[in-house]
Amino acid sequence: MTRAEEPETKMLWLLVLTLPCLGGSVPVTSDPGPGTELVGIMGGHDAADGAWPWQVGLWFFDPTRSKWSLECGGSLIHPQWVLTAAHCIPGRNPVTQHLKVQLGGLRPSYSDSVQVARIIRHPKFRLEKKAEGGADVALLKLEAPVGPSNLVRWIRLPPASLSFPPGTRCWVTGWGDVAPGEPLPPPYNLQEVEVPIVADEICRQQYLRIDKVIQDDELCAGSRERDSCQSDSGGPLVCKWRGTWVQVGVVSWGESCGLADFPGVYARVTSFLPWIRGHIHSSP
Ligand code: ARG
Repeated sequence: MTRAEEPETKMLWLLVLTLPCLGGSVPVTSDPGPGTELVGIMGGHDAADGAWPWQVGLWFFDPTRSKWSLECGGSLIHPQWVLTAAHCIPGRNPVTQHLKVQLGGLRPSYSDSVQVARIIRHPKFRLEKKAEGGADVALLKLEAPVGPSNLVRWIRLPPASLSFPPGTRCWVTGWGDVAPGEPLPPPYNLQEVEVPIVADEICRQQYLRIDKVIQDDELCAGSRERDSCQSDSGGPLVCKWRGTWVQVGVVSWGESCGLADFPGVYARVTSFLPWIRGHIHSSP
């Protein structure tokens, strides 16, 4: 497993991945060196084996450096389909060969990853607007169906009419930063944190103060020091409903991480149900 990257590559990735989320302040001063590459969740703690069996890790290949690195999260929503954030997928014409999906592990492990057969970004996602433009969802079709096992299982999608009242406690998981610009330290155990759903109107007003628009297909969750952060993107926000977990959001963006006035912004899963189901059911 290679977690190290050359400094320029890292800068590039950070630019690609964090600019949409950070209001311009890129937390890159120096390369922290091998073994500390971008892989938290803020205010969370170690997840237990099998606690979040739908969590996947997305590994991307950088052809100029011939290196793979874990850059985003995702969720298994079907034996052969992963839901992630569209802004995680780089470039106009992404190639499936440069992406692999890690299933069922608590630690980053390239060798446990599988091939992707198709990458489908939401047609309304705008590359140039990045995450903040909304429609920040993508589907990845795996080459072969997987699971279920103790460690690998899919997450249920919510019924279209389901919405959770502000204050509902949900959970978000990932290998992203533990604070802005601070990567998850070794041994890189998957992190989990409980976050409250924030009222749409409150979130909208808060972000409007910094001239950012919360789209209708986005929802907010988090509180002071409880949030997802850089490199958690694409990962699932899940809530318990009638005794089962359902995926309510996809980590998308936020102003810094863990700020009291700026909760994390998530793609709202219920907004994309017809699109998701259309692909899963019509795919050969
Ligand atoms: N855009 C980030 C990424 O690509 C996710 C940021 C989430 N930010 C937050 N404050 N919840 O990894």
